[in-house]
Amino acid sequence: MKILMVCLGNICRSPLAQGIMELHAPADWRIDSAGTSGWHEDERPDTRSILIAKERGIAIDHQRSRQVNEEDFETFDIIFAMDSSNYTNLIRLAPNEAAKAKVRLILNEAYPGENRQVPDPYTGGQSGFRHVYELLEEAVQSFIKKY
Ligand code: 4NP
Repeated sequence: MKILMVCLGNICRSPLAQGIMELHAPADWRIDSAGTSGWHEDERPDTRSILIAKERGIAIDHQRSRQVNEEDFETFDIIFAMDSSNYTNLIRLAPNEAAKAKVRLILNEAYPGENRQVPDPYTGGQSGFRHVYELLEEAVQSFIKKY
C-alpha cells in the first residue's frame, strides 16, 4: 500500500499525517506527503508540528516539503486531502478518472460521509497543532482498523 498525505504547504498537517501513519502502518507500506502549493519547497516541517510529534514519540524533522505532481497519481494508491480546498485542488490536478478516484478526505475515515476538515493551524498557536494531531491520530487509527 502506498499512501500520500496532502495539505497546502506540506509543513504543518501532512507531515504529521505522514509521521502518524508511518507509526501505525505495516512496515512494507510507503507513506509520503506533499503540498498543493510549492511555497515551502525543501523546508523542514513547521517547528510546532515537529514539537507535537516529538511529544508523542514521532520524529518528523527529517521530512522536506515538496509540491504534489502528476506522477504522484500513478505512484500512490490513496491520496488523502486534509481539507476540502486540498481535495478540490487535487481533483483538478488529477490527470484521469482513475487518479480522481484515489483522492479522499482523511477525516472521512473516522467520520464517514461527514466531510470534516483538518483545520489549517498555520496562523494559530500550539493548541491548534495539538488538535490537528488528535484528529489525524483518530483518522489513521480508523483507517488501519478498517483496512
Ligand atoms: P499546511 O499549513 O498546509 O498544513 O502545511 C500551511 C502552511 C503554510 C501556509 C499555509 C498553511 N502558508 O500560507 O504559507
